[in-house]
Amino acid sequence: MLKIIYHSQSGSCARLALEVLAGAKQEKGFETSLARALDSSISELSNASGLLLIASENSGYLSGGMKEFFDRIFYPAIRDSLILPYALLISAGNDGREAARHAQRILSGIPLKAVMEPLVIRGELTDDSYRRAQDFGLTMAAGLNMGIY
Ligand SMILES: Cc1cc2nc3c(=O)[nH]c(=O)nc-3n(C[C@H](O)[C@H](O)[C@H](O)COP(=O)(O)O)c2cc1C
Repeated sequence: MLKIIYHSQSGSCARLALEVLAGAKQEKGFETSLARALDSSISELSNASGLLLIASENSGYLSGGMKEFFDRIFYPAIRDSLILPYALLISAGNDGREAARHAQRILSGIPLKAVMEPLVIRGELTDDSYRRAQDFGLTMAAGLNMGIY
């Protein structure tokens, strides 16, 4: 099962998360679910075979809600040897690289395994942003379903 976890303040990451979900659901015979980071804990990850994490860059860092989720699951994930494949989608005004870098650093310590380069979507969301988010979700779901990741 692919678990999509997002944190959103303005709604941009929430919208991208829905597009990622729509893309992942195109992979037939494979389960995908969506949850807010603030509502998620280690127990929701126990039946996941992969994670897709969606957050924004805020003031040159990963957005606080996603950082809080990572902090909360850090020790339980190590305790449970939660070595899952993951991919990261960052929504940003004009940069996003720092959010991606900080997230990768934190996740490498759990350790989760990055299976794709982070997708950074900058600026106002457009049809192209939605298409890229859908493709990202489908690629992750298909890779998990085929056992590639
Ligand atoms: C407090 C704050 C700080 C931000 N800092 C950055 C930043 O450092 N770099 C950047 O590219 N965008 C920055 N942005 C823009 C957001 O990353 C962008 O609007 C994103 O789509 C917000 O998604 P969300 O509201 O769903 O979390 C900032 C936005 C806010 C509200």
